[in-house]
Amino acid sequence: MTGSEIRQSFLDYFKKLDHTIVKSAPVAPLDDPTLLFTNAGMNQFKDVFLNTGTRPYVRAVDSQKCIRVSGKHNDLEEVGHDTYHHTFFEMLGNWSFNDYYKEEAIAWAWELLTKVWGLPKEKLYATVFREDDESEILWKKVTDVKPVQVLRFDEKDNFWEMGATGPCGPCSEIHIDQGEGYCDKQHVPGHVCAVNAGCARYIEIWNLVFIQYNRDEKGALHPLPAKHVDTGMGFERVSAVLQGKASNYETDLFTPIMAEIANLSGKEWGNPAMKPAFSVIADHLRALSFAITDGVLPSNEGRGYVLRRLLRRAARYGRNLDLKDPFIYKLIPTLVDVMGKAYPEINERIQHTTTVIRSEEERFNEVLDRGLDIFEKLATDASSTKNIIAGADAFRMYDTFGFPLDLTQLMARERGLTVDESGFAQEMDAQRQRARDSHKFEMGDSREWDVLSKGTDSEFVGYESLEIETEIRKSKSQDEGVILRLAQTSFYAESGGQIADTGEITGKGFRLQITDVRKQGDQILHFGTFIEGNSISDSKVTATVTREQRLSTARNHTATHLLHKALKEVLGDHVNQAGSLVAADRLRFDFTHHEGLSAKQLNEVGWRVNAQIRADQSVEKEVKSYKDAIGQGATALFGEKYGDEVRVIKIENYSMELCGGTHVDRTGEIGYFRILNEESVAAGVRRIEAITGEAADLHMRKEAHLLQNAGVLLKCRPDEVLERIQALLDSRKELERDLKKARQSSTQSDVDGLLEKVQTVEGIPLVVQEVQVSTVDELRTLGDKLREKMKSGVGVLGAVMEDKVQILCVVTDDLIKSKNLKAGDVVREVAKLVEGGGGGKPHLALAGGKRVDQLPSALAAVPDILKKQIMS
Ligand code: ALA
Repeated sequence: MTGSEIRQSFLDYFKKLDHTIVKSAPVAPLDDPTLLFTNAGMNQFKDVFLNTGTRPYVRAVDSQKCIRVSGKHNDLEEVGHDTYHHTFFEMLGNWSFNDYYKEEAIAWAWELLTKVWGLPKEKLYATVFREDDESEILWKKVTDVKPVQVLRFDEKDNFWEMGATGPCGPCSEIHIDQGEGYCDKQHVPGHVCAVNAGCARYIEIWNLVFIQYNRDEKGALHPLPAKHVDTGMGFERVSAVLQGKASNYETDLFTPIMAEIANLSGKEWGNPAMKPAFSVIADHLRALSFAITDGVLPSNEGRGYVLRRLLRRAARYGRNLDLKDPFIYKLIPTLVDVMGKAYPEINERIQHTTTVIRSEEERFNEVLDRGLDIFEKLATDASSTKNIIAGADAFRMYDTFGFPLDLTQLMARERGLTVDESGFAQEMDAQRQRARDSHKFEMGDSREWDVLSKGTDSEFVGYESLEIETEIRKSKSQDEGVILRLAQTSFYAESGGQIADTGEITGKGFRLQITDVRKQGDQILHFGTFIEGNSISDSKVTATVTREQRLSTARNHTATHLLHKALKEVLGDHVNQAGSLVAADRLRFDFTHHEGLSAKQLNEVGWRVNAQIRADQSVEKEVKSYKDAIGQGATALFGEKYGDEVRVIKIENYSMELCGGTHVDRTGEIGYFRILNEESVAAGVRRIEAITGEAADLHMRKEAHLLQNAGVLLKCRPDEVLERIQALLDSRKELERDLKKARQSSTQSDVDGLLEKVQTVEGIPLVVQEVQVSTVDELRTLGDKLREKMKSGVGVLGAVMEDKVQILCVVTDDLIKSKNLKAGDVVREVAKLVEGGGGGKPHLALAGGKRVDQLPSALAAVPDILKKQIMS
C-alpha cells in the first residue's frame, strides 16, 4: 500500500463505523494559548472534552498535522538519530465524544491492524495503565492478542496528557516487535530489548487514550463530566511497518525528497555517514513548509523562533552534504508532489512558503560560514581543556552568528563536547536585564512615586468618556514636567499598534499638556509638561483627551480592521496581520503575503473598504470570553497571548477581531479611505500605508490642486493634461532627433574648417586645434571624420570639458605603416604637458589632463613632438 492508500483506508475504516471525517486543524493553533504547535489530533477537540464546546457529531476521524518541538512533547533531539521520530508528522486518530468507550476502541483498533491491514498478531503487544484492570480484561476478551503480550506500565508510559494542563487520562498503547535486527541500542550497556525500553525493535504505533480528567494550573486532576476516546497513530511509522521498511524515511512519504536532496547535493543517501543529514533536512523541510503555510513566520520569539531554529539546523546539516547555497526552498515542489493532495494548502501557498524559506536561508548563510569557523576554534580550545564550551562563547555564537543554543549543542555533541548551559542562560539573563534597564531609564522609573491620594489607580474609562473628573494618585517629577498615575483615566495608552492619546490634565493652579501615555504592567503613566503653574497643589483634576486626535485615530483603527478583512477577501485567507501602526494622521498595516499587489488588487481592496464605509455599518464593541469570541469566528493575532476575557470589535456584516483599541461607532464616520503606498518589509510580509477622513480629504484636494496647476502651466483643462503631456513628449522626441541631425552636419563643417588650418611637419600634413565640443564622443566623431578626410596626415585636437582637458590624436594608416607613427605615442607626450595621461590604438588615441590653462602651450608644442617622433 502507498502512504496515501494507508491514510485513506484508515479514514474509510472509521467512516464505515459512523465517524465523521474532519479536516486537520492548522499546525499553529490560534485558539489555544497553552500550545505553541498542534501536538496531537485531539487538540482541536479540547473544548468538547472540557465540556465548553460541542460538535454536531459524536464520532470523528482525521489525519492531523502535528509538530512536536516544544513543551511536553518534544522529539527534536531524536530526529536524525533514529528512524522513527519527527518534528512534523501526521497523526491518524479516531474519537468518541461521550459515545463508545474502551471496548469498541480496543476491538476496532485490533481489527484494523490485524484483519484489514494484516499485521501479524504474535508481533503485537498491548500496554495498559497499571490501575486499568478494565482495559486489560477487554484486551483479553475482545481481541485475540496473546494474553502474555498485554503488559502494565505506570504514568510515564500509560497516562497521556497534552501539556502541563488540559484533558488527560490513562491510555492503552499498541506496540510492534519488528525483530532483533531493528535494535539500535545494542551499544548501550545493560540494554535489553523490550516494550518501552527505548529501542527501535519495539515501537509504539497506536495510542488509545481514555480521556477522563482535566489537569489544572496547580497540577490537580479533576474528573470530567463525561468519558471520551482519543486515539493517535503515527502515520509515518505505520506506513513503514506496512511497507516493510526499516525506517520511516524509507517509505514513499520520504523517498522522493531523499532523491531530490541526493540530486541537489550529489551525495548518496545510502552512505551511512550522510544519512542523518538527509533525515534532518527532509524532516525539517516538512515542519517548516507546513508551519509557514499555516501562517507562522520565522522570528526571534515563540513559534517563529522554533521555525528559525529548525531552518538553521537544516542549513547547517546541508553543509555536511556540501550544500553551500540556499537549498531547502528547492525541495518544496517535491514535498508538494508527495503531500499536496492530502493537504492542498501547501500547494496553494507554495509561493509564500518558498519566498520565506529562501530568504531565511540567505540571511543565515551570510553568517553561517563565519560562525562555523569560530565554532571550530572554540571546539579545538575546549577539546584541549575540559571538553566544555563556555556559556559566554555559546552566547556569542547565538548573539553574533545567530546559532541557536540547540544548534551549538548539537555541533558540540558531534565532537564529544558539551555546552555550559547555565552559563549561557546567565549571559542571556544579563542581556535581558540590560534591555530592561534601558527601558526603565526611558520610562524615568528609577525613583519613588510621591503619593498624592490613596486608592487604586489606572482604571481606564476612556472608551466611554473623553473628559472626566478624577484624582491624581501618584506623581513623579521628570525633566520639565511630571509623570502621573490617575485613579481613573480617559487617556488611551499606546498599545496594540494604536498610538497614545494626547490632551490636558488641569487642577487648581496648574495645567499640564499630556504628550505621551504609556502602560507599565497594569499602570497607566501620563507624561505631562506644565503650561500653567509649575507644581501640583491639589490631587483633584480634570483629564481631557484631545477629541480630534482621538476621533481621527479611531477612524484609522476601524479602517485597519476593514482593510484586514478586504485583504483576506481579495488575496486569500493566508493574509494575517503581522504588525500595525494606528496614528491620528495615518495607518500602517503589515500582513503576510508573498508578492507585491497589482494595481488591480490594490484598487479592489480600496474599493471594498470604501463600500463598507458607504454602507455605514455599525461597529459593536463587546467584552466576552475568549472561547466564545473565537467560537463565533473572531480573528485573533498570531503569537498574541489573550486573557480569558477579551474585547471584540464587530463590524456589522463584515469583520470580527479581538482588539483593545478605540473605534468609531459606525463605519460611515471614517468618511473616505485612501491607500498611499504598498511595499515589502520582509520576506513574505507586505505593508500598506493609508489615510482616512480629514487626511484623505486634504490629500485629494492637494492632488486636485496639483492637477489644476498642471493645467494652468500646460494651458489646458485638467482632463486634458495627460493628452498635453503626451504631445509634449512626442514633440520633444522629434526635437531630439532634429538636434542630432544638426550636430552631425555641423561636425562635417567643423572638419572642413580644421582642414583649412593644415600645416606641414617634415612633409607630413598636421592639424592642431582647440575645438568646442561637449562630450568625449563628439570629440571622437570629429577626430574620425578628420582622419577620413585627411587621407594622409596627423590631427591633434584639444578640448576643455568639465574643468578637464581632453586631447585626441588621429593618424592615417599610411603613416602608421611608413613612418611607424602611433597616435598613442603622440597623445601621451602632449598629455604630459597638461599633467595627464592616456593612450589608445595607433590610429586614434585619447588622453585626459588637469591643467586647462596649459592647453594652448601644449597644443603649440605638437609640431616639435611630432618631429621628434618622426626622427626617432
Ligand atoms: N492524544 C494521544 C497522543 O497524542 C492519542 O498520543
